[in-house]
Amino acid sequence: MSFLTYAPSVFVIGEEYELLLCLRSHGLLSVRVGDTLYYEENSGALPTERTVARVRVPQAALNAARGYEVIFRAAIDRRAYYSLFEEEERESYPFSPLPAKGDIHVYLVADVHSLFESAARTVTYFGEELHLLIAAGDIAEVEREEDFLAVIDFLGKATGGRLPILMVRGNHDTRGHLAERFTDYFPADGRKTYYSFDLGRFVGVVLDCGEDKPDAFQGTDKEGKLLPPSYNGVNIFEAYRRRETEFLRSLSFPEDGRPRIAVCHIPPAITTCHKGDIFDIEHEVYAAWNAELERLGIDVMLSGHLHKIFLAMPDDERNTLPHAYPILVGAWPKNYKSVIGTAITLTDTGLTYRFTDEEHAVLEEGHLDFVR
Ligand SMILES: [Fe+2]
Repeated sequence: MSFLTYAPSVFVIGEEYELLLCLRSHGLLSVRVGDTLYYEENSGALPTERTVARVRVPQAALNAARGYEVIFRAAIDRRAYYSLFEEEERESYPFSPLPAKGDIHVYLVADVHSLFESAARTVTYFGEELHLLIAAGDIAEVEREEDFLAVIDFLGKATGGRLPILMVRGNHDTRGHLAERFTDYFPADGRKTYYSFDLGRFVGVVLDCGEDKPDAFQGTDKEGKLLPPSYNGVNIFEAYRRRETEFLRSLSFPEDGRPRIAVCHIPPAITTCHKGDIFDIEHEVYAAWNAELERLGIDVMLSGHLHKIFLAMPDDERNTLPHAYPILVGAWPKNYKSVIGTAITLTDTGLTYRFTDEEHAVLEEGHLDFVR
């Protein structure tokens, strides 16, 4: 039996990969890439008393090595002196970086809402030719640790630890008992769930709108009677979004002609398909984001959340805010029974998108040339 409970997830952040490794028991862990051993972030004292481990490795090292070895020694007793461990166990995983040239096959999945069996079939559209999985939020709920582990199981089965994953937080990932622990499992820059990345063939930025309603939101019941505050003080996303504005203002990409892609669960320029409703929020802040995304020359934004599938060009009538970049909204949990996502074939100059279901049927397809 493996000492890992699920296949590893290899998340993309900055110019690194973050390996997420779930352990059956406490113990010492390292990851060997080439001749180098990598460890969890530590202060010199290595962690042993946990079952979720995360190890950062440089993308360049893992891309060159095309594989890694996870090394584990189960803890018998960690002591001040003379700690005891079981014999060393090792597991090797191959790794496939993005292809150096030609088509890049990306599958965008979001809004799974715990429909894991359907989503597992949907994301196999490219089969062995998948190069990158983008999990763009609302994969499950975050009430119990089992919810996180179910997501990790899903990602592990979808990629086998062999492919990079871009992981993005959705609004459902901010609700419930374990919302505050999202960044204990999934990649973040410190505690910040927004960050840039460089995948060699393209660069980009992950953004996070947080919740879909104002922090102080209070709904009404069917008779129009005011309900208690939805969040009752647990959210300060309005300040978080303003910090993201400052992050975007500080961001720049190399001027080397590579595609620039933004990923955000909620498209900030189409926060709702019903203008003026409770989700039509943050015009001022999201307009500032849009201005920065346009300054950054974003070629396309990939999103979910709306439970619809469409490509929104700048003149799309669904826009809640003007934007100059195309937005591919590509996740639909149809009738909350079957998950539809987007198969993207990305080149250096554009992309072809196909909205596909769990039978791999193509519901709609189109092409987008990046405008430079
Ligand atoms: Fe959502």
